[in-house]
Amino acid sequence: MRVEVAKDVYWVGAIDWNVRNFHGFTYSTHRGTTYNAYLILDDKVAVVDTTLAPFAGEMMERIREIINPEKIDYIIANHLETDHSGAIAEVLKYAPKAEIVCTSKCREGLLKHYFGDWKFLTVKTGDTVNLGKRSLKFIEAPMLHWPDSMFTYIEAESLLLPNDAFGQHIATSERFDDEVDERVLMDEAAKYYANILWPLSLLVIKKIEEIQQMGLRIKTIAPSHGIIWRRDPLKIVAAYLRWARGESAKRVVVVYDTMWGSTERMAKAILEGVTSEGVPVSLYRLPVSDLGDIIKDLLEAKGVLVGSSTVNADILHTVAPFLEEIKGLKPRGKIGAAFGSYGWGGGAIETIEGKLKQAKVEIVLPALTVKWVPDEKELGRCREFGVEFAKKIKGA
Ligand code: FEO
Repeated sequence: MRVEVAKDVYWVGAIDWNVRNFHGFTYSTHRGTTYNAYLILDDKVAVVDTTLAPFAGEMMERIREIINPEKIDYIIANHLETDHSGAIAEVLKYAPKAEIVCTSKCREGLLKHYFGDWKFLTVKTGDTVNLGKRSLKFIEAPMLHWPDSMFTYIEAESLLLPNDAFGQHIATSERFDDEVDERVLMDEAAKYYANILWPLSLLVIKKIEEIQQMGLRIKTIAPSHGIIWRRDPLKIVAAYLRWARGESAKRVVVVYDTMWGSTERMAKAILEGVTSEGVPVSLYRLPVSDLGDIIKDLLEAKGVLVGSSTVNADILHTVAPFLEEIKGLKPRGKIGAAFGSYGWGGGAIETIEGKLKQAKVEIVLPALTVKWVPDEKELGRCREFGVEFAKKIKGA
């Protein structure tokens, strides 16, 4: 079945129903994903992006349903990462005259990945390729999310093809936002932003402002993963600005691990305290929780409380990946605090505070620690700790 995204622009990508992780197991994809590619028919024919290599056959079938691939004049490579460039060699097998249009960094990367004797046309922001009735305009987008990234814009259709930006990892039989559950769509878009674009937030703001200043009319945003935004494309743009500016809800995420249950009892008493102030909380024990999901939850929560039992004068090793992850993501505008139990001697809360500071989380309460098992009085202190943190959230 042909999927027309705009006049003479067809979705010719592939659906990966079974992928459950991305980027070397750093990003869980519970709903699978798609590798979106687009075929543009005009006097000249262009394909924008391709798929991961094993899906090249699926993409070629979709192209052949519409046109003989020999007619392809251009392959626009918005991004060299292999989930979008993996099928280029296969497309070129059947489209021998095609020229690859990309940034100079993308050209360099493609040659170092595939070692092909390929024809290239390198482009910069503002450059265009005329297809006949319509032109493709290019906008470099370095570090959104790789140095080579660029967006393609088709003025005649008010269609933006921004590759990874505004994407989501969702495999569905539907292709458009007006066909799917909006809450699922926004949830996956938030997870995508949190896990991929969050540390690049300042660049996200600058790029969106640059596009706004260019005065481009945008009717449809067709990313390289997941669902195409055609009902209200500016909704995802507004969400990106909100996330990039660090705007968050008065919510708390509690993340912890426990050796023999004392830190867990602390975590649950703290949760009671926060909740008693009317502030919603999510609680995650690390070894049984998905890191990508926690990061997504944290994107829109103002506060983070991190707890660990002490072992060998330090945190439990299961807590370290979360702290390392947020250190790299550099979340803006978060407040936090540390807690945890110890037996022979302390150490965990100092490590947690140090890592939170490195992640630019503002520490707003002294860390709370308990020796061995918390008694009723100490559990009361935990509840009070939660109450105090909730007040900081409400006052922030
Ligand atoms: Fe940066 Fe979807 O690859």
